[in-house]
Amino acid sequence: MGKGLFITFEGVDGCGKTTQINLLSEYLKERGYEVLLTREPGSKGLGEKLREILLNYDGEVSDRCESFLFLADRAQHIDIIVNPAVNTGKIVLCDRHTDSTVAYQGYGRGLNIDTINHLNSLATNGKKPDLTFIFDIDTKTSMQRVGKNQDRMESAGIEFQTRVRNGYLEIAKQEPERVKVIDSTKSIEEIHKNVIDIIKNYIN
Ligand code: TYD
Repeated sequence: MGKGLFITFEGVDGCGKTTQINLLSEYLKERGYEVLLTREPGSKGLGEKLREILLNYDGEVSDRCESFLFLADRAQHIDIIVNPAVNTGKIVLCDRHTDSTVAYQGYGRGLNIDTINHLNSLATNGKKPDLTFIFDIDTKTSMQRVGKNQDRMESAGIEFQTRVRNGYLEIAKQEPERVKVIDSTKSIEEIHKNVIDIIKNYIN
């Protein structure tokens, strides 16, 4: 049994990462790797209930409460889904993880970044992604892609999304080994090729 990998995908809403995760998943499966596709918030079970609240609850939600709900989902996700898969040799592809909380609740909502980092490490019990992709795009284009049908987070506005984008770029600057920025304004095929070029250094 080979060593598993934990790879996360990040970016503002409408950055196109879900398309890229699916393409990468196909690429890896065709080459015989065991792949688990998952996401935060809410992969299954309890997580799905938390996702429903986080994305669709239309009453007042305090910024700290929002953070704790994402973190609760993360703790459950790491314990029940991510770690068991990585520990049995799978490549886990996860749509959003800790950097989303730093970018959205930290840089976006304005909560203290050091506190979020600390809470993230409690939620993950210290587990870190082996590799993280940030799909970077200007927020005018990304919000056009999102369109009019917006969930609770997407409807926070373009200034919010721009703070989130800048937050992601700051994370990438601080952790260049783990975090790779991909230009997400390119074509789907070009972006996929950029992802593969990086992934090749992590698989054998
Ligand atoms: P989702 O529909 O999964 O969006 P996307 O397809 O763009 O990933 O919704 C997840 C939303 O939750 C997204 O707006 C980002 C936000 N989010 C946070 O604010 N903090 C977090 O910690 C996580 C995991 C997500």
